[in-house]
Amino acid sequence: MANYAPAMRDLLNPSASSGTVLLSNVPCRQRRSLDGRWRFIVDPYDLGYVDILTRRNRQGFYRDHKPRHKGDRIEYDFDWSDELVVPGDWNTQDPTLHYYEGTVWYRTTVQVDAVDPATDPTNRTFVHVGAANHTARVFLDGEELGCHVGGYGPFAVEVTGRLTPGTHSLVIQVNNRREPDRVPAMRSDWWNFGGLHRSVDLVTVPRVFLRDAWVTMDADGSLVAGATVDAGDPTTDAATTADVTLELVDSGLTVMLDPVVDRPGEFAARFEADVERWHPGRPVLHRVRWRCATGQAGGGDVDTFDDDVGFRTVAVDGNRILVNGEPTFLRGISIHGEGPSGGRRANGPEDASTLLDWAADLGANFVRLAHYQHDEHMVREADRRGLLAWCELPVYWNIAWDDPRVLGNALAQAEELVVRDRSRAAVALWSVANETLPGEGRHEFLAALVDRVRELDPTRLVSGALITLPTGGLDFTADDEFGSILDVVAINQYLGWYYGERDEIPSATFTTPWRKPILFSELGAGAKHGLRGDEDEIWTEEFQAAVYRAQLEMIGRQPDCAGLSPWILKDFRTPLRVLPQVQDGYNRKGLVSEEGERKLAFDVLAEAYRQMA
Ligand code: GCU
Repeated sequence: MANYAPAMRDLLNPSASSGTVLLSNVPCRQRRSLDGRWRFIVDPYDLGYVDILTRRNRQGFYRDHKPRHKGDRIEYDFDWSDELVVPGDWNTQDPTLHYYEGTVWYRTTVQVDAVDPATDPTNRTFVHVGAANHTARVFLDGEELGCHVGGYGPFAVEVTGRLTPGTHSLVIQVNNRREPDRVPAMRSDWWNFGGLHRSVDLVTVPRVFLRDAWVTMDADGSLVAGATVDAGDPTTDAATTADVTLELVDSGLTVMLDPVVDRPGEFAARFEADVERWHPGRPVLHRVRWRCATGQAGGGDVDTFDDDVGFRTVAVDGNRILVNGEPTFLRGISIHGEGPSGGRRANGPEDASTLLDWAADLGANFVRLAHYQHDEHMVREADRRGLLAWCELPVYWNIAWDDPRVLGNALAQAEELVVRDRSRAAVALWSVANETLPGEGRHEFLAALVDRVRELDPTRLVSGALITLPTGGLDFTADDEFGSILDVVAINQYLGWYYGERDEIPSATFTTPWRKPILFSELGAGAKHGLRGDEDEIWTEEFQAAVYRAQLEMIGRQPDCAGLSPWILKDFRTPLRVLPQVQDGYNRKGLVSEEGERKLAFDVLAEAYRQMA
């Protein structure tokens, strides 16, 4: 962005979201899907938002104008433009957008009839976006309502009172340009898929509603619950005088949450309940019913919705991870948010189901959802299947550690990550970073993220993946000061691939100065599916399988190892992997190809997990 005038820079690369609302429990809400075919305009010079004098373009594409008379000059027309499917990345839908990094304008029209809940003045309506990479602006009928910065978290903008009966123009501008002051920044070993890559919905709620509500089990076995009442109008006291209750439907236990002192609209409760536990491999979900009542008994608003929640404890004890008090070894696999075929952004229940089927075929009880917030379907599906999950922020490699605006956005992304999924028993670990490289301000930046995540959710473990660089020897001590503030120290190491001889691997040792649990959050090797040969020939399936055998032998000898999530379930797209005939734009460390074809190493890991289980 260096070549833009300052005013234009801020218009095109906002550092913070504005006008957006973070709604949780969207799948439990009354929704109208806006998924489908949207018209789109590719706008690499951002003419649709900034005019040639670098001012805000008052007649930009977001106006969705049509000529008013035969002499009227309008140099765009959504109705004559092509279409993209939402949800979905643009790169794999249109070959001309394969490498595109810039702005794309999306437009759909919303037909509202007189009986639509959105037209009921006692309701409130939001446009909710599951995720848009990277920066999105939402316009309704030509008016900008909100701007969101961050490629993987959910956001909403309020449209209450604007969806009158008739036809409305909903335009969303999405810009996926990489910037040094973004999270992630200029480089990542995954494809910078742009677009509305998760669902868009209209969500309608009562005038006074639970913008957030969550319940989970703390390490001592008590249940903790929190809720935020949003009355919209700050002048009313509805947000502070509401009755907020949580009912465990199967037992009928109903708990009234208490207002939180000095936090108007926030409510909390901690209580005991005799509930059957959720266990890895033996999931139990309980129907819970949230209710927020305001005004006189029966006379005011009532907001109520149901959710299905599992209850389990997770904790560390020395170098062990405990689930429900039992030491639990995490037999995991790392997963990118890429669909089971086609090398495209994953979204929806089918992708989640197929990817987690493959993890189950491995015998995994744990999935590392790398390197960013995944689709909500993935986390809810892990909940239903009894799979433990690691959820992660894209604080990856080089970040502008010393820029407070970047920290502000990282903190906002942390809030989206935790607020959306902190009722999910599957989520055991929040990760705030992956392989961050040393730099001025790095530790303070990461410590601020750890503190914020712990503040939002004191019940789960906090981790982050450390990079392992070759030292010439085979004894590795993960003593990065970042590890000192984590509950679990995650180590990415590539002995047998980037460094180290394969036959040396079994004699390697990994320790930390803190005797904390170690998770090998990455290990592995590349192989092109179908390329067969002897195990010393790189890129063969035999080579990859031999690295896995040596790695698994070494890991079995590490006293502090509490689990592993090898890199990675499936080959995935990345601009960093360009070897023709072998990589062709894919990272080949998958245990299955980009079309789901299994490699030899898949069975090596599955056999090891069978023996461990
Ligand atoms: C790193 C990084 C991954 C990357 C992997 C690799 O550890 O965390 O995102 O894909 O190594 O080199 O394949």
